[in-house]
Parts: sequence; structure tokens; C-alpha cells
Amino acid sequence: MEKFDVVYKKSIEDPEGFWGDAASDVEWYKKWDKVLDDSNPPFYQWFVGGELNTCYNAIDYQIENGRADQVAIIYDSPVTDTIRNITYKELLDEVSKFAGVLLSLGVEKGDRVIIYMPMIPESVVAMLACARIGAIHSVVFGGFAPHELAIRINDAKPKVMVSASCGIEVKKIIEYKPLLDKAVELSDFKPEKCVIFQRPQAKANMIDGRDVDWADAMKDVKPAGCVPVAATDPLYIIYTSGTTGMPKGVVRDNGGHAVALKWSMRYIYGIEPGDVYWAASDVGWVVGHSYIVYAPLMMGCTTVLYEGKPVGTPDPGAFWRVISQHGVKVLFTAPTAFRAIKREDPNGEFVKKYDISCFKHLFLAGERLDPDTYYWASDLLKVPVVDHWWQTETGWPIASNCVGIEQLEIKAGSPTKAVSGYDVRIVDNDGKEVGPNVEGIVAIKLPLPPGCLPTLWKNDQKFRESYTDPFHGYYFTGDGGYKDDDGYLFIMGRVDDVINVAGHRLSTGAMEEVIAKHRDVAECAVLGVEDSLKGQVPLGFVVLKAGADRDSEELKSELVQMVRSDIGAVACFKQALNVKRLPKTRSGKILRGTMRKIADGKDYKVPSTIDDPTVLDEIGEAVRTIGYGKK
Ligand code: COA
Ligand code: AMP
Repeated sequence: MEKFDVVYKKSIEDPEGFWGDAASDVEWYKKWDKVLDDSNPPFYQWFVGGELNTCYNAIDYQIENGRADQVAIIYDSPVTDTIRNITYKELLDEVSKFAGVLLSLGVEKGDRVIIYMPMIPESVVAMLACARIGAIHSVVFGGFAPHELAIRINDAKPKVMVSASCGIEVKKIIEYKPLLDKAVELSDFKPEKCVIFQRPQAKANMIDGRDVDWADAMKDVKPAGCVPVAATDPLYIIYTSGTTGMPKGVVRDNGGHAVALKWSMRYIYGIEPGDVYWAASDVGWVVGHSYIVYAPLMMGCTTVLYEGKPVGTPDPGAFWRVISQHGVKVLFTAPTAFRAIKREDPNGEFVKKYDISCFKHLFLAGERLDPDTYYWASDLLKVPVVDHWWQTETGWPIASNCVGIEQLEIKAGSPTKAVSGYDVRIVDNDGKEVGPNVEGIVAIKLPLPPGCLPTLWKNDQKFRESYTDPFHGYYFTGDGGYKDDDGYLFIMGRVDDVINVAGHRLSTGAMEEVIAKHRDVAECAVLGVEDSLKGQVPLGFVVLKAGADRDSEELKSELVQMVRSDIGAVACFKQALNVKRLPKTRSGKILRGTMRKIADGKDYKVPSTIDDPTVLDEIGEAVRTIGYGKK
């Protein structure tokens, strides 16, 4: 048996022994009473009775072990022409001061703090400061519009919000403060205080009595120490797109999270303390939480915080420059970033300008790694390119080549095998397991390993409905796929209304809710269609109300604007087609799957339940007018 399989087998046969051993790599104030509490399925708890502090593990412990002067964060910001090295000692100073600021604003253990910030060190400082005092942070990605932020404010009910005056998108200054103000105006729940970090690129107007200037607050504040929290206490909430306009508040605990992330750094990514690790994502996404902030710091690494893009800041050599300049050993990003680089530099000329001999592995996730991109990246970089599959809900990879255990053969199009702790099965619509090479729904036998969501924020019912009710005894991933004869997984795409646009997870249902609000729209459908750069992009179909005689271009631009201002630019909603009717089943369900196949130019079967098959021809005609469908 291969080493990979031996480790995996132990994790499945003896999860308590396996994760109990792994937990000795984390610093605890109090050891757990029980590794796994499985007395109340489908709600499982790890390391019950244990106490720790995640910020202590990420900073103080590292300093106590000789890393005070090691660089903890390299802030590399081509958009502001800045490179700043922050040592562990300096990070401790900033974090304990900001934790003191939060305490002075009345934030207590268990209170929520929403962080709406760009990729600057202060975002990381704010996250760790929350962890230090046991407050629960919820970071909201800066590309979301006020309406989306307001939804999260209403759900998380934060005592305090932390933001910055602006973000910088290549050359565009995006003022965050007016977006924050608008969100607070829209929300029913009102935070007591907003701490604003003023960046030189834009000055935010402050609201008297509510807004606090970051720099002023940090001046004479009393630094705060770490408080012990229960292993099962939430560290953070991260909202992620589901099938409706109401995002799901994924909860992450402290104990299981620390154990799983440290294990993953060593065994999945092959990382050792002191290594330079770079996740080119955003702190607003789960990748940012796990692999820009918590995992590398808990591992005593140097993490790169990159405020730039793969292309345009300034050129498609940006990634190679960062790798070479900072000695990056592992880069983790989304395939879309590589497609963007390939588009601008198809022959890989830029990589020749840099010495990237320090670079050992490229890890990609967030969407399916198409074989073309896989071959292009591995030919260019001459290092193993590891596709790995995971979700916001799990917080760390479900399937991967674990290069720290043993590197298995790479099969293009597959994220390799299930990682230790995840008992992944392929089931049919009735929850019955199917054999090798048969495509079905990817499910994970409960319990999930440590680090995965214990529930949704204040919503056990929704947790059950979304994840554990569909198939009894399993976690429903929302992804479709199959396993081959060697147990390699192939993840083929979502089976629900979630889409991945440039590695950003979005809900077509949420877009439909926005479009349906337009006064002339009778009904609509939004689908994710294939895109050679972004993987998928949303495409809208609208049926107008009787008597609404609208110019389709004008209507389109109104709808595009609505989605942009309600959800955000990141939705990338740019196309809407007027159609006379939508294809439906006789019971009135819109046939989104068939429409998607038509738009992608794929073969499709006319569903037997269809009400009127001629509508499919109309959809085919409509998509051809904008270059989609069968040519
Ligand atoms: N704040 C405000 N606006 C933001 C934003 C942020 N943090 N992030 C993105 N946006 C805006 C962009 O400016 C763009 O606006 P526009 O329509 O006015 O041009 C829009 O949202 C769409 O952004 P994006 O999807 O990122 O497209 P892009 O064309 O700017 O860049 C890529 C394309 C592929 C280069 C880029 O998506 C990328 O680097 N992706 C890497 C993948 C990644 O980080 N994934 C996260 C999970 S691993
Ligand atoms: P997110 O929650 O944003 O991380 O998105 C999770 C979803 O992205 C998964 O459910 C998959 O649909 C998709 N995804 C992530 N990684 C991969 C991968 N390596 N291969 C295929 N799909 C992936």
C-alpha cells in the first residue's frame, strides 16, 4: 500500500486517534476531554473541553520559539508601489494594540466584528486581534456591494465594523467608506462603532460619534493579551453563496481549525516552519482566511499578502517577480489567474526574466483545473502542479495530492484522492453509492474532519437542510463528479445554482432575485456559462411583462447596473437576453440545466417532462446572437 493510503486509512478507521495525535502540534491552555463528540448527529464537535487561543498559536507562540525577528508578513503591493516586511514581533505589537482598541470599544468575547477591507496588513491585524480577545470576525470581500454587506450585517449583528478608506483595483480607487455607510443605512441592525483605516489614496469622511480613526485609536491604547477560548467556540463566520440571495454563514471553530490547518500545511503543502508561502487570493475568501492568514502563521512561516493581480500590475510576469523576490516555496491560486497570464504571455516569455529556483509546488483550487491550463502551467514552471478541491464550508482541502506525505501520480483533470479525514463517496439522486467511473453527486460520510463547519451561524435548521438532510449520514457537497478505478476523484461542477466566476463563488439565484425586481421583468433565469478566462460567467434570460416594449440593449444595461449595485462588480454580470418564454417542465420548473447545455453548445436530451420543446429552439437562437451555443 502507498504511504498516502496508509495515512488515509488510519484517519478513517481511527479518527480520534489520528486527530488526537495531530492536535499535539497545537498549543493548548487546557487539553480536550474528548477528541470527537458524536452524541448529537449531524452536529459533531471536535476537541470538546479543550481551550486554546488561535492568535497565540499564530503569533505569541512563534515569538516564544525564536521567531520574533523573522518576517511574518510580506506586504507586496504593486498597486501602491510598496513592499513592507512585518516581523512576528511587529505583528504582535500591532495586533495586541488593535485588540486593545476593540476592547476599548466594548467588544467582548463572542461579539461579532465585521471586517470590510482591501488586501492591506491592517486586515490581517484586525482578524488576529479578534481572535486574540475571543471576538468572532466576519470578513466581507471588498468586491461586494452595500446590499450584500447589509445582509451580512443583519445576520452577524456586529458590535463594531472595521474598514479602510479605499481599495485599489489595478489603477482604480474604490472608495470603501461610502459603501460601508450605505450598507449601514440599508441594514436593520446598526453597529455601534466603525473603525476606519485611512489610506493616503483616499480620505474617508467620518461620522461623528460612530466612526473611529484607526491611527488615532492605536496611539495610547493598552495592548491586550490572549484570552483562552473553548475549542468549540467560533473563531469566525464567513458568508458564502448558496442557491438563494441569502448567503450562508459558515461557522469555523477554534480547535478543529487550528489542528486541521497545521496538519494541512505539513502534509498537503509540504511546508516547514520558516518557509515562504503565498496564497494569491483575498482575505475576503476562505482561501485568504486559511492560507494567507491562519495556517502560514500558525506554522511559523512567512506569508505573502499581495495587493495586485496576476496581470496588469504591471505585467504577466508579476507572479514570477513575487516568487523570485521573496523566495516563495509554494504558491496557491486559482486556475483563472493562470488563464489570465497565459492569455497575455502564451509563450511564457516573462518567466525567463526571473530566477524561480526556490519554487517547489503550485497548488490550484477554486474551480475545476482544465487540462489545458494544467499542461501549460506545468510545462512552463517545471514544478508539480497540484489541483486540489475544497469549499468554504470545509476550510481546507477535501481532495489533494499530499506532497508532504508522498507525491502520487498526477492525472490531469483530477484533484487526486480524498485527503485524510474525508470519507468521500459518489452517490446517485437517491443517495445510493455508485461504482467507479459513474458520475453522480459527491458526498462525504459524516462526521467531517476537524476544521469543517460545525453548523451555520445561528441556523442549525438551515445547516441540516443544506448539507445533511439531502442524504442521510452524508454531507452534501453540491458538486457532481466521479471516482476512477484508482480512487482518483474528478469534480465536474456544481449540481446546484452556485457558479464560480474567476474563482469567486456566486449565486445565480441571488442574481435572479435582483433582476426580478426590475419593473418590466415578468420572469428570469440566470445561468453560469463557460468562459475561457473566468471559467464561468453569468448569463441572464428575461421575459418581459405583457405590454413592456423595451429596447433590449437599454434593458440589458439597466439589469447589468442593478446586479452591479446590488451584488457587486465581482458578479461579472454583463449579458442579458430578452426571450419570449423560458423552457419549463409541465410542473413549471425552469429547465436551467438544459438551457446551460444549449448556451455552452453541448449536446442535450430534450427532457421528457418538458412542457413545450419548441422553446429550446428559441433559446438556441437567442444565445447564438451573442456568440454562444452551437455554431
Ligand atoms: N474590491 C472592489 N472591486 C473588486 C474587488 C475588490 N476587492 N475585486 C474585484 N473587483 C472588481 C474588479 O475591479 C472588476 O470590476 P470591473 O467590472 O469594474 O472591471 C470586477 O470586480 C470583476 O473582477 P474580477 O473577476 O477579479 O475580474 P478582473 O478582470 O479584474 O480580473 C482575474 C480577472 C482572473 C485576473 C482575477 O479574477 C484574478 O486574479 N483572479 C484570481 C483568483 C482569485 O483570487 N480567486 C479567489 C479564490 S482562490
Ligand atoms: P468556494 O466555497 O468559493 O471555495 O467554492 C467551492 C466550490 O468551488 C466547490 O464546491 C467546487 O464547485 C469548486 N471547486 C473548488 N476547487 C475545485 C477543484 N479543484 N476542482 C473543481 N472544482 C473546484
